[in-house]
Amino acid sequence: MKFSLPLLVAVAEAAVMGRGPGCDVPPPDKDGRYTISAPGIKAQFIPYGATLTNLFVKDKNGKDVDVVLGYDDVEYYPKDPGHPVYNAIPGRYANRIGNGHYTIDGVTYETEQNDGNNTLHSGTNNWSYRFWNVTAFSPDSITFSILDASNSSKGMPGRVESSVTYSVKGSTWKIQMTAKSLDQKTPLLLTQHTYFNLDAYRNPSTSKIWDHTLHLPYSKRYLEADQGALPTGKILTAAPNSINDFASASDLTVGHARDQPGFEGNCGADGACEGYNGYWLIEGAPKDAVVVTLASKFSGVKAELRTDQPGVVLYSCNWMDGSADLKSTQGIEGVNDKVIRSSCIAIEAQDYPDGINHPEWKRTEAQIWGPGQTYKWESSWTFGLV
Ligand SMILES: *[C@@H]1O[C@H](CO)[C@@H](O)[C@H](O)[C@H]1NC(C)=O
Ligand SMILES: *[C@@H]1O[C@H](CO)[C@@H](O)[C@H](O)[C@H]1NC(C)=O
Ligand SMILES: *[C@@H]1O[C@H](CO)[C@@H](O)[C@H](O)[C@H]1NC(C)=O
Ligand SMILES: *[C@@H]1O[C@H](CO)[C@@H](O)[C@H](O)[C@H]1NC(C)=O
Repeated sequence: MKFSLPLLVAVAEAAVMGRGPGCDVPPPDKDGRYTISAPGIKAQFIPYGATLTNLFVKDKNGKDVDVVLGYDDVEYYPKDPGHPVYNAIPGRYANRIGNGHYTIDGVTYETEQNDGNNTLHSGTNNWSYRFWNVTAFSPDSITFSILDASNSSKGMPGRVESSVTYSVKGSTWKIQMTAKSLDQKTPLLLTQHTYFNLDAYRNPSTSKIWDHTLHLPYSKRYLEADQGALPTGKILTAAPNSINDFASASDLTVGHARDQPGFEGNCGADGACEGYNGYWLIEGAPKDAVVVTLASKFSGVKAELRTDQPGVVLYSCNWMDGSADLKSTQGIEGVNDKVIRSSCIAIEAQDYPDGINHPEWKRTEAQIWGPGQTYKWESSWTFGLV
């Protein structure tokens, strides 16, 4: 079969841009982003990590506010060695695998220990650091795809084909993922790892996340974790107003327990991690119920999560060390211009972390996938005013 020169050039260009085989997919905007929009929302993405770079919604004054973290320069994402999975898709198994191993059908697989003794986000060849293919695009929807070779992350057997479709409608951002293991059983656990600051760091009195309200009405219980943020296996219940309670009232702030003993060290690291880096179960929620509400009085923005997942990871950005610049769409020059400690919150809908090593939770079936099965994940964020 012969190819014409223009087609070859197009294919080569597509490969450079991470556009992949779909010849009908347009190139990104001049600044390297793909933009999708609906009347109340505008979302921008890059193929690297299938990452959301900007998310504009309306604040209480009707102005656009960019409520997620990221960089202005899209070239900087792969260059910054320290970037913390900025709004990307970690995979094929997100969060931790305890002590770098797990077992399927009597065979033990050793995974890369890149986070103390544990595996984090599948190791250093994780999906959030790869260039995905753009396989479909329309003004309100974009699809990224990845083909993950067997053992391309150490100890992850079987070829996996996965895709994420982001779409917008009204003031809702929807995320749908599917994955298939083509030839062997393998662990699959995906999430969308977005970091929010609903004030876009424009509150002159604070850029910390503490004043945002956070409500998880179906999440009285959470997983106990050790000092390395690895679940111990125990499931605990948060008493009303205790540090890990976001269920008992709708006006609890992220920082509501800041003065309680144990808040410093609540996310481990022998006391060095303040705030949150753990997993909350979602239990007894009716179908399509709002399971998480994050809101800020300052901007007036409210974000509501719906998901088919059985829980969420909450991480209140303890390890942000003030070295990363804010985007030009965020901050106040000379006042708030860096991503400082505890200035954002990642909310990641997903299955129980390290469920492959905890048969007592009965999540193994939802986390080990073989040929002929299709893993599915769906969530949406709806934005409104408080
Ligand atoms: C990591 O594993 C080693 C070897 O088993 C052990 O000595 C060490 O205590 C472990 N570290 C942590 C933080 O659990
Ligand atoms: C993901 O992979 C990148 C590139 O190899 C690496 O720098 C980063 O540390 C990895 N992420 C984690 C959480 O290990
Ligand atoms: C993108 O598509 C090309 C052509 O099918 C393929 O070779 C490549 O592996 C794909 N990239 C990813 C990240 O899946
Ligand atoms: C998987 O990759 C690791 C290196 O990351 C290698 O040591 C191991 O032998 C590989 N396993 C298989 C089954 O290919």
